[in-house]
Amino acid sequence: MDSFAGTPRDGHASDSGRGGSFEGDICSYCQEPWGTGRGCFMCGAFLVRRAQHERLRSRVNGRRSESVQDRLKRALGRIELHRPRSLKASLVRCQLGIRDLEPLLVEAGPFPYGRHLLYQNQGIESLVMNWPSGAECAPHDHGSSWGWVHILEGEAEHSVYQLDVRGVPRVRRKRLVRAGGWLFAPKGLIHSMGNPTSNRLVTLHVYVPCITGMRVYDPSRCASCVVRDDCGAWWPADDRQIVQISPPSSAGDLPR
Ligand SMILES: [Fe+2]
Repeated sequence: MDSFAGTPRDGHASDSGRGGSFEGDICSYCQEPWGTGRGCFMCGAFLVRRAQHERLRSRVNGRRSESVQDRLKRALGRIELHRPRSLKASLVRCQLGIRDLEPLLVEAGPFPYGRHLLYQNQGIESLVMNWPSGAECAPHDHGSSWGWVHILEGEAEHSVYQLDVRGVPRVRRKRLVRAGGWLFAPKGLIHSMGNPTSNRLVTLHVYVPCITGMRVYDPSRCASCVVRDDCGAWWPADDRQIVQISPPSSAGDLPR
């Protein structure tokens, strides 16, 4: 049994005069994550817990004084071999939130989303994307990369596709993912994302290895193209961003 659980006991020091209380996972005393969310607020044991909490808070604040790039470099840069589960755990430990990334958001302009490269080394890259209301990207793959998408704010509509006999992507399934949710994109997945709400959508992405050779589809023209690495998931308006194009196909002609 947790020695900190239970009702307050007479004679124990009270912390109520300090204006602090713990509710859920956030401490109203200092507005930082409390961790276990358990403990007696009224007894001396709480003071021990609070000392632990203060140490946690100073560590978190120390991390927040680092730049986003440094935090990602510390979380992702030392890992030689990334596996999906360990990569997600590294990102969770990084504790990047909308408060950290807000200054780095890029307006979408004429594109479905504004993209900002946060961190990149030879084997991994991380981006933050800013989706206005109603935005939707084109169906695409990630070349030979896989990765994670973390919904930081808003709600994302995620669609997964399968190519038909003409090589045209058809929706197989679609679902809504809310803030705090994660999407795993395995190698070879053809998908699209969108923001069907009236609010902003912000997503954090990490890909292994860095995406190169991304193929974007235009189902209305039954065409696809491989885009340059600095292009997002949309059909490029500038032909110079097209590396290779597959023209509209007929049955029996099966582009990748
Ligand atoms: Fe994608």
